[in-house]
Amino acid sequence: MEARPNIDCMVSQSGSVRSHAPVDPAELAQSLLPFGESRMLPRAAYIDPAVFAWEQKHFFDGGWTCVGLAADLADAGDQRAVPVGAGSVLLSRDARGVLHAFANTCRHRGHELLPCGGSAQRPSIVCPYHSWTYELNGDLKTAKGFKGTAGFDAARWGLLELPLTDWHGLIFVDGSGTAAPLTDALAGLEELVAPYEPERLVVAGSHSYDAASNWKILTENYHECYHCPMIHPELCRVSPPNSGENYHSTGPWVGGWMDLRGDMTTMSLDGTSLGVPLRGLDATGLRTVIYVNVFPNVLISLHPDYVMTHVLTPLAADRTLIQCSWAFAPEAIGKRDFDPGYAVEFWDITNKQDWGACESVQRGLSSPHAVPGPLSPDEDAVYQFVTQVARGYNGEPVWSQRSAQAAVVG
Ligand code: FES
Ligand SMILES: [Fe+2]
Repeated sequence: MEARPNIDCMVSQSGSVRSHAPVDPAELAQSLLPFGESRMLPRAAYIDPAVFAWEQKHFFDGGWTCVGLAADLADAGDQRAVPVGAGSVLLSRDARGVLHAFANTCRHRGHELLPCGGSAQRPSIVCPYHSWTYELNGDLKTAKGFKGTAGFDAARWGLLELPLTDWHGLIFVDGSGTAAPLTDALAGLEELVAPYEPERLVVAGSHSYDAASNWKILTENYHECYHCPMIHPELCRVSPPNSGENYHSTGPWVGGWMDLRGDMTTMSLDGTSLGVPLRGLDATGLRTVIYVNVFPNVLISLHPDYVMTHVLTPLAADRTLIQCSWAFAPEAIGKRDFDPGYAVEFWDITNKQDWGACESVQRGLSSPHAVPGPLSPDEDAVYQFVTQVARGYNGEPVWSQRSAQAAVVG
């Protein structure tokens, strides 16, 4: 059995206990070298269940994680249970229209309120085990048999609520309960995303994929088009793979933009759009596609006429659930015979090409002979993501703003 450094907890200079991921510190230091000299993350980051468990606790349960679309809980009484980190969260929309996130565990003896992945539409939250019933805002309404029981105070037994932020129609939940406001951390991204008004758009297509790949391999792949000439002939016909630049982010996000070719108006098989341009975009927005990843698990692809979103849910070190949705302007949806297929089909083909490559990377990295490789000059966004993860592995906060100096690469 490989020796694993005993570095889970160290005391920082400030005296607080920092948790370090169970990876080799010397290898991790290589990932944090300046761009051009650095190496990819240690192999254990992609294959070791112990690293995966650490990530679940410190990345996915340790701050803001995307759990889906607000549009999936459009009406009062809508409830969904979604996986987050080691457990699951129950989302509900109350009668006042407010979204809530609760630990998906009954206050009686812990039964899940909904099975993970399940949904319901009803005016209260009912535990299926002994029927404790909660209001949609989490207050305990009735506990069968407890009426008049001495010392039982229903007000003490409401559901455990977690901070929730609806950011442009994406729901984020803070499993730690202590993270700084997400909107502050994403302030630098706001001006890029706001013109697309994702919260106004209507989802007209969705696909779920189950990829035999680590979640970080999928994200790293998203951050570069170095691979595009080899595996994406359809994409290269509409967008030059060497076009665009990456942003110098100072928050928990990484991204960049790419051009559309001369007479192409969007990402589709023939470069034409069957939708309508998004109303808030300027001339540049109509000629480019923006790709951003909000740490740790959502990819937002902003097109001139639609927004595609991938929400990644890690299931194991080598397996990830990917929920992909395509949202269009209401004016497009309202067009007679509107068909979102032009966008959905294009990206479904491209997605599958990507997942195939990522699954091969996963298999390749499972070789005991695999060692972390260098990054090409075109992979600066991969570098930004890798260093974000590596700093997190070192116990540094991931969701707070970094200095611009630390974020600059190249
Ligand atoms: S565990 Fe929920 S009512 Fe008993
Ligand atoms: Fe790709």
